[in-house]
Amino acid sequence: MEIIAHRGASGYAPENTLSAFKLAVEMGAKAIEFDVQMTKDGEIIVHHDYFLGRTVNGKGFIKNKTLAELKELDAGSWFSKEYEGEKIPTIKEIFDIVPKGVELHIEIKKLNIDRREIEKEVFRLVSEAGRIESSVFSSFDHECLKQLFELHPVKIGVLVSSNLVEPVKYLVDNNLNKYSFNQSVAFIKPEVVKNMHDAGLKVFIHSVNEIEIAKQMENWGIDAIFSKYPDIMTK
Ligand code: G3P
Ligand code: MG
Repeated sequence: MEIIAHRGASGYAPENTLSAFKLAVEMGAKAIEFDVQMTKDGEIIVHHDYFLGRTVNGKGFIKNKTLAELKELDAGSWFSKEYEGEKIPTIKEIFDIVPKGVELHIEIKKLNIDRREIEKEVFRLVSEAGRIESSVFSSFDHECLKQLFELHPVKIGVLVSSNLVEPVKYLVDNNLNKYSFNQSVAFIKPEVVKNMHDAGLKVFIHSVNEIEIAKQMENWGIDAIFSKYPDIMTK
């Protein structure tokens, strides 16, 4: 079972920062996950929440801030003094520090109140960086994934966090049965794992930070888990 460093090695360094990604690479992670959003001026940055405040010393919507404004903020102090001054990174900065051999799980954050085509710009940047083959594009916004796949047949991971009645049927009926089903640990069950595998899809589980659960996922034949501890299986 593969371990995907969720928001980088975010159990050990502030999530979605260069420090967290550098550490994940140093720890030998073969795959990392990060969240991308579009700034007011159309830049692609790496941050989880739509609003500032939890992990940065600012307020308001990311989508209403320019890159320059976001770069003023501190994304490290909330985690520990050691990381004071850490910045919100751009996707390009991730490409600069993460070796090409590391698989990228790029989670596109998109809102119904902001339908700018973030997926197109993310695809353009990943493509320019020569990383399409080693990237999986995921999102809770399935329309966005559909639009992306229709433009370019990339690997897409359909993110869900609910107990779907007929998950394979949902993916097939919506033409989303392309690469992976990214379910929450709260709603996975062995029967679904089997059905997904039979349908030719991988199953990735978010987020698993306890060793007992990680082992259970491995026993169930899960292909990969997202974890803030890249070393979860040996720690
Ligand atoms: O991609 C897995 C996971 O990151 C999805 O949820 O909220 O942590 O971005 P979230
Ligand atoms: Mg995410």
